[in-house]
Amino acid sequence: MDEIRTPGPSAARGRGTTFRLAAVALVLFSALAGTGLARLLRAPEADTKPAVAAAKFPGRLFKDWKKPDLVIVVTGQQKGYLLPCGCSHPQVGGLERRYNLLQMIKAQGWPYVAVDLGDITQRIAPAGLPNEQGKIKYLYSMRALKEMGYSSIGIGENEVNLGLRDLLAEYSLNEPVPRVVVTNLFNADKLFPTMTEPWNLSAPAGASLKVGVTSIVSPTVIERMKLLTQGDDKLVFEKKTTAAIDRTLKEMAAKKVDLPIMLYQGLVSRNGMKEPHTEAMGLAKHYPQFPIVVALSEEDEAPSRPVSMKSKTGSESLIISIGRKGKFIGVVGVYKTGKADKPFEFAYERVELTDPEFLTPKAKEKGHPIIELMESYTRELKEKEYLEKHGKVRHALQVMPEVKNLKRPVEVTYVGSDKCKRCHEDAYDKWKQTPHSHAYMTLEKKAERPANRQYDPECIVCHTVGFGIVSGFVNEKTTPKLKDVGCESCHGPASAHVANSTDIQWQMRLNPWRFLPANKRADAMDQMCQKCHDIDNDVHWNFQKKWPLIAHPTPKAAGDEDKPKEDK
Ligand code: HEC
Ligand code: HEC
Ligand code: HEC
Ligand code: HEC
Repeated sequence: MDEIRTPGPSAARGRGTTFRLAAVALVLFSALAGTGLARLLRAPEADTKPAVAAAKFPGRLFKDWKKPDLVIVVTGQQKGYLLPCGCSHPQVGGLERRYNLLQMIKAQGWPYVAVDLGDITQRIAPAGLPNEQGKIKYLYSMRALKEMGYSSIGIGENEVNLGLRDLLAEYSLNEPVPRVVVTNLFNADKLFPTMTEPWNLSAPAGASLKVGVTSIVSPTVIERMKLLTQGDDKLVFEKKTTAAIDRTLKEMAAKKVDLPIMLYQGLVSRNGMKEPHTEAMGLAKHYPQFPIVVALSEEDEAPSRPVSMKSKTGSESLIISIGRKGKFIGVVGVYKTGKADKPFEFAYERVELTDPEFLTPKAKEKGHPIIELMESYTRELKEKEYLEKHGKVRHALQVMPEVKNLKRPVEVTYVGSDKCKRCHEDAYDKWKQTPHSHAYMTLEKKAERPANRQYDPECIVCHTVGFGIVSGFVNEKTTPKLKDVGCESCHGPASAHVANSTDIQWQMRLNPWRFLPANKRADAMDQMCQKCHDIDNDVHWNFQKKWPLIAHPTPKAAGDEDKPKEDK
């Protein structure tokens, strides 16, 4: 899903943290402050492509950086979060903001190499939907990364989960950039011809540096992938990684690579291990040839600084993890020292892609390549009828046996909120006043960039009744009565109750919370709300505060006489 959630309060603290990695560098930079070198910070010339977004960094960023010889832009674990949904605020991350940051870097005249660790696509769809959009999101993400001039992309579990061969055949077979790199995919040149490379050379214009990017799937991740690769005996990752790395380093040396970068599909280190012989720290220790190692994050929020490791020879490696869901970007400033034993100094800034600094200004929306890509993404969902073709499961109430005939389940279906009005007027009137009753219109009218969100299953699922469930919402034409978050979004399909409203069993089934002990009741209701008001889509969820806004108790005294007891 492409909602971007905002991290907790700790994120604000870490915003805009630039730090120097070496004491030497610190001295160097402060010595330069106020000298003519500050001029270098201004962009000398415009780029060939016109910069679409605002060309200036937000003031808090890169404050005391002099012009780097090269910038390495690090991302990873986007997990299908293409752009924020706009469900709640503030919103962070997304490909559009990422593009705008890269435009700012370009406008400064800083040459960059952009790399992504992989896990670009999602493993799990929102609100329990089957992952039917994982592949199309991968393809659009890769197109966006191409627009951003990415050089090299790693492979993660999530790509393997969707069928690596399929994904690569659809993108990498046809598109030379960005390259998918992986050095321990067994027999890749024969089994995945022209789809992957063990490593990729970048020499961006304006930088006198050659960068070689490779990636490796760690033993831990290989282990996790085992279930996913079952049945594809050609998809094998070599567990003995040293042979592959040695081979790649040799090739890089032959091509005179100055700066080898390792995208490490594995953790920074493993808990409880005194000597990290595995995972990224272990790798960095064994291979000081890689001054930059990018590793997986276990949290959404990126640490404000990389792990720095010194080798026996005194050289330094950075192990960068960049969080999940594309909310942060790591920017490494590379400065050449001219010294053989320590050829580079680095600066690092973790950039949080906040609102509104990285948003595209209104005047620049037209022709913005990522906005256009996102528009074609939702248009494709509409044209290829993702809503209509979506798989369906059964609601719990649809598999329970019929009350009077406990042997087989009754055919209970969704009927729409209008059907409840007659007998539950108060509840209905209350509901009408809540935003739930216009949640569909919100997708049509409020979610305008991109448009067509009412055709996107990953939005529809929380903004309608019963999408992805037998007899639930299909589209506006077929099921107009199931638009919006309705009574049955929370109570479940109610045809059996409407047909026989005096049946106590069905009344109870529609309000399972009623008979819970007081201490469990609020929790159970809260859980139900959070199927939609999850951390991605409702940043500030608070059941105690929100429930009173929609509570709809049946008025006690009036209830019994006024309400028709029988439906026949
Ligand atoms: C023909 C009248 C009628 C219709 C139509 C009707 N109900 Fe009811 N409903 C009742 C009666 C009567 C009760 C039991 C008394 C009460 O709790 O209000 C009831 C009880 C319920 C309860 C359980 C309340 C509790 O805690 O016992 C829920 C939930 C409910 N209805 C939801 C719905 C929904 C949702 C719809 C529309 C899909 C609907 N009803 C349509 C008459 C109706
Ligand atoms: C099927 C998904 C779904 C469920 C379940 C759900 N909501 Fe919502 N809720 C939404 C959507 C979507 C909106 C936004 C509607 C809009 O503005 O168009 C919303 C908006 C709201 C709002 C108004 C906005 C705000 O945050 O103040 C409140 C209050 C709210 N929900 C409370 C609840 C409570 C309490 C529950 C559980 C008892 C619940 N919701 C369950 C989808 C859901
Ligand atoms: C997991 C459930 C869920 C999914 C999926 C979801 N939404 Fe929402 N959406 C909500 C909830 C809950 C709210 C209300 C949040 C609040 O008020 O804090 C909401 C509110 C909104 C709003 C109203 C915001 C406002 O300021 O009034 C918009 C617009 C919106 N969603 C768009 C989308 C789009 C676009 C998608 C698909 C990319 C989407 N939603 C997917 C649950 C969801
Ligand atoms: C966002 C989720 C949600 C929506 C939408 C919703 N309900 Fe409810 N409803 C609940 C919950 C949760 C309870 C249980 C409250 C409790 O037991 O205190 C409840 C309770 C009820 C009750 C029992 C009230 C009582 O006094 O015991 C009725 C009747 C009812 N709902 C009918 C409806 C009808 C009709 C609609 C649509 C017009 C509707 N509900 C929409 C979540 C929802």
